[in-house]
Amino acid sequence: MCGIVGYVGHRPVQEILLAGLEKVEYRGYDSAGVSVLSDGAIASVRAVGELSHLRRAVRDLDTIADVAGQAVAVAVAERPPTAGIGHTRWATHGRVTESNAHPHFDTSDRVHVVVNGIVENHAILKRRLVDMGATFTSETDAEVIAHLVSHHMARGSLIEAVRAAYGELHGQFAFAVMSADEPDTVVGVRLGCPLVIGRGQGEQFVGSDVACFLEHTRDVQYVYDGELVVLRPESAEFLSADGTPIERAITHVDWDAETAEKGGYETFMLKEIHDQADAVAETIRPRTLGTTGVDLADPDFDEALLDGVDRVLILAAGTSFHAGLIARYAIEEWARVPVEMDIASEWIYRNPIVSERELVIGITQSGETADTLTAMRLARERGAKVIACTNVRGSSVTRECDGVLYTRAGMEVSVAATKTFVCQVATMYLLALRLAELRGAMAPPRIAELLAEIKRLPHQITELVAGLNGRLQATAERHAPSTFFLYLGRHVGRAVALEGALKLKEISYIATDAYAGGEMKHGPIALLDEKTPVVCVATDMPILDKMIGNIEEVRARGAHVIAIATEGDGRLAPVAEEVIYVPRTDWMLQALLAVIPLQLFAYHIARKRGLNVDKPRNLAKTVTVE
Ligand code: AGP
Repeated sequence: MCGIVGYVGHRPVQEILLAGLEKVEYRGYDSAGVSVLSDGAIASVRAVGELSHLRRAVRDLDTIADVAGQAVAVAVAERPPTAGIGHTRWATHGRVTESNAHPHFDTSDRVHVVVNGIVENHAILKRRLVDMGATFTSETDAEVIAHLVSHHMARGSLIEAVRAAYGELHGQFAFAVMSADEPDTVVGVRLGCPLVIGRGQGEQFVGSDVACFLEHTRDVQYVYDGELVVLRPESAEFLSADGTPIERAITHVDWDAETAEKGGYETFMLKEIHDQADAVAETIRPRTLGTTGVDLADPDFDEALLDGVDRVLILAAGTSFHAGLIARYAIEEWARVPVEMDIASEWIYRNPIVSERELVIGITQSGETADTLTAMRLARERGAKVIACTNVRGSSVTRECDGVLYTRAGMEVSVAATKTFVCQVATMYLLALRLAELRGAMAPPRIAELLAEIKRLPHQITELVAGLNGRLQATAERHAPSTFFLYLGRHVGRAVALEGALKLKEISYIATDAYAGGEMKHGPIALLDEKTPVVCVATDMPILDKMIGNIEEVRARGAHVIAIATEGDGRLAPVAEEVIYVPRTDWMLQALLAVIPLQLFAYHIARKRGLNVDKPRNLAKTVTVE
């Protein structure tokens, strides 16, 4: 996920852009940049690392310019620039370098663009543009937009050029573009990634979300897919791709700054639950551009790491451990490679045995969990190939491994992991599928089928969250007074049950236990009485009849069954007091969807109890102490 901001108006733009970027830094933060337009030229500053590095780079340029007396800096043009665009990047195509940071520009340096998302046909377009004389300066897919718009400007205005370029671009993206030849104009385009306009008096804003301009205006217009918007100081003109003008109502948002950062949700956790579709889409998209296979190769991950693997070991903690459990089932089922897994803090004290044919996967959203870090270091010392699955670029684990599979969930503020979990699971599905492909463990049509299902997940998540939030609020209300919840599941459903139970205890401080359905009769069944809510993960899977048998055992003790089932499956309604349905997909993938009602359930119970879900007691987002 990347963050976009843009401004045209009457005020100096530099600070407006930098402050706006700070608000969307959560969307991506490996590098950043701004371009400003003044006196028929565009000045640009980019920097690798956090936004503070960009601020420093802008400041340094100001100082140099002051000394040299030249107009090299953003802030020293004769009239301070009043139009510009900015970007925070989370790398997808190309390494984290200054030249890969946005804004990108055309060969004549007269068209600058900031992009969020992916241009799928960038390679073909790039070849054509290079043949026509364009010089590319980055490894990104995004740069192609600057060259393409510039190419079309030879025959028309910026707006016509953007429309022509848009017609040639495939993918999911949003971008903002400006040209030195058309002062005081910024054009925004949306296709599959968020973009919103802020309306001011004699000034207009564009951004990835409302937070980046909320301190200046609360009058907002949403851009929909397939639309262009032309911003000038006095106007925001919406157009369809064929140039037809569109009327768009202004929405007045009365959020305070904190609510805006939460995207209008009451907490970060709820926002992050709603962000899950986008996060999964961002995570899988660059790796699933083909129609048949998965491509995990990128500057951080060499697929040669997957050669000659005859055993996989997964090490993690907490929620990441539960993602690892799902990975275990998927890798064994699809790639037919044996997988062992352990809690990182336990494994390191086993005097563990590993070999160089073993692939060790450390899963950690923060990339800083000391237990996981120590385990990965130890595995590497003992000769294993070690890869990390993390959400944080440049985090400690990325220096302790041979390759990194990044999840692209954007910054997760709430201590309770939600969107990072589903992204870990999605990444592990892709890894399992790629291993299956490389080892010839699965027929290509079956791989293509699963891939198509994986690509549908973001859409299914959107529907699920939208459809369930209200319903689960009511369910949670009924169960909030309970003092104990049991969670049951089998196979991948057990991993989901463990995660649901952890989420509830973590944010609501209610005692929970989670068990494999078949284990319940060996002890936990003693806990059951008619007051006990038992959450049963019973989505479609080959052993669902066994799980239904376990549910019958629960019912025989009079306990109250809340079942998570697959849409269209009529077997649960007769045996459960409440059934919550999730969309149908392949049974292995069902685990990713099944966790979402459990996140919402935990969330609403904790809120009903008046708790601060974003910062639960005794817990920190990053656990760095062994
Ligand atoms: C999950 O909601 C928790 N915050 C916690 O279990 C977390 O998953 C665990 O501490 C591991 O963190 P990591 O993924 O950053 O390594």
